[in-house]
Amino acid sequence: MRPQGELRIFLFHFCDWLLSRRNLVIAIDGPAASGKSTTARLVAEELGYLHVDTGAMYRAVTLKVLRTGLSPADAERIGSLLETTRVALRRDGPAIRVILDGEDVTAEIRDPAVTRAVSTVSRHRVVRQAMVREQRTMGAAGGIVLEGRDIGTVVFPDADVKFFMTAGIDARARRRRDELGARGDAPDIGQLAEEIRERDRLDSTREESPLKKAEDAIEIDTSDMTIDEQVRAVVARVKSVTEGTGA
Ligand code: CDP
Ligand code: CDP
Repeated sequence: MRPQGELRIFLFHFCDWLLSRRNLVIAIDGPAASGKSTTARLVAEELGYLHVDTGAMYRAVTLKVLRTGLSPADAERIGSLLETTRVALRRDGPAIRVILDGEDVTAEIRDPAVTRAVSTVSRHRVVRQAMVREQRTMGAAGGIVLEGRDIGTVVFPDADVKFFMTAGIDARARRRRDELGARGDAPDIGQLAEEIRERDRLDSTREESPLKKAEDAIEIDTSDMTIDEQVRAVVARVKSVTEGTGA
C-alpha cells in the first residue's frame, strides 16, 4: 500500500493537473492598488493560465489619446481614433508587455499623466465596447485570469470564479508611493491618496460598466495581507471550485 504522505502528494499534484486542464475563466476586480495585477499574474503563473491586465489596455488607449492631442472627454474623436488603434498584450516570461500600434509602451502607460486621464477616457461607451470585444476574444477558450473593474459584472458575467479585492486607502496610497519611488519619483502620499480616491469615484459612478462587486464575487480585503497570502487565498478558492466542494 502507498504510504499516506505519498498519496496526499500524488492527489495534490493530480488536482493541479486537473486545474490546468479545466480552462477556467477567473475574474478579479477591484479599485486601484488593491493588489489585482500582482495577484492575477502570480495566480496565472501557478495555474499555467494566461493573465490579462485589462487596465493596461485602457491605459494604452489613453496614452494614444494624449499623444494625439485629443481631449480625454471627446468620445466622438476617440471613437474614430480607435479605428486605427491596435492594443496587444505580449507575454515576456512572467511579465506582460503592452504593445500600442506595434510599439512597446509598457513603461509609458504608467506615467502620472496617463493615470490622471484614464478614468475619463475609459468611461466612453465606444472605448468600452472595443476593449470588451478584445477581452472576450482573449478569454473565449478559458485558461485565463482577467483583472480590471468590470470583468465579473460585464466582460465575463459567467466567469467560473470571481474575486473582488479591496484595501484601505492608506495601504493603497503607500503601495503606489513605493511603486513610484522605485521608478525614482518621490510623490506626496496625501496627494496620491487624493488621486486614488478621485479615480475610484469616477470609476464607480460612471454610467457604463461602473466598478462594483459582482453579487457572486468573493471579497478579499488585502490591507493587512502579504502578496503570498493573497495568492494562496485565490488559488485555494479556485481549487475548491474545481474539486466541486465550493468551500
Ligand atoms: O493599476 P491601477 O489600479 O492603477 O489601474 P488599472 O488597473 O491600470 O486601470 C486603470 C484605469 O482603467 C482604471 O482606473 C479604470 O478607469 C480603467 N479600467 C476600466 O475602466 N475597466 C477595466 N476593466 C480596467 C480598467
Ligand atoms: O492591480 P492593482 O492596482 O489592484 O494593484 P497591484 O498593482 O497588484 O498592487 C499595487 C502595488 O502594491 C504593487 O507594487 C504590489 O507589489 C503592492 N502590494 C503590496 O505591497 N502588498 C500587497 N499585499 C499587495 C500589493
